[in-house]
Amino acid sequence: MRIAIGADHGGFPLNERVIEELRAAGHEIEDFGTHDGNVPDDYPDYALAVGQAIQNGKVDIGIIICGSGVGANVAANKLRGVRAALCGDTYSAHQSREHDDCNVLCLGARVVGVELALEIVRAFVRARFTGEERHRRRLAKVNEIEMMDDE
Ligand code: RB5
Repeated sequence: MRIAIGADHGGFPLNERVIEELRAAGHEIEDFGTHDGNVPDDYPDYALAVGQAIQNGKVDIGIIICGSGVGANVAANKLRGVRAALCGDTYSAHQSREHDDCNVLCLGARVVGVELALEIVRAFVRARFTGEERHRRRLAKVNEIEMMDDE
């Protein structure tokens, strides 16, 4: 799978650990940094880079990590076609894909430990949208809300 990963200084060095894990599992990684946790930077820049990689079809899914995961999640969900899930547990991680067809996982490096974060990543990456009618119906409604911006 092609996976984009971006993290601000608050998400470092968890991003490096996630990348290492996913590369070892055979995934193709688009690494947007940061590679230096000592330089203060801005989570929207990473959310934009990962979100645009989703939008232009360069990757299948994305992962954005900041301190809490909240800012990354808010910013990512501003991009059309991006459905970002902030997860602190494995159930939400796989259900966000299975039911909500989420294409971006957000993590809070200051909130979850490394091992839990890796299990969340595995659950998200492994899961697939079930395509059931009820989920498609709800997603169509989500898309209608997104399109309201144009009216
Ligand atoms: C950076 O200090 C922190 O605010 C950011 O990583 C994130 O937690 C925002 O939601």
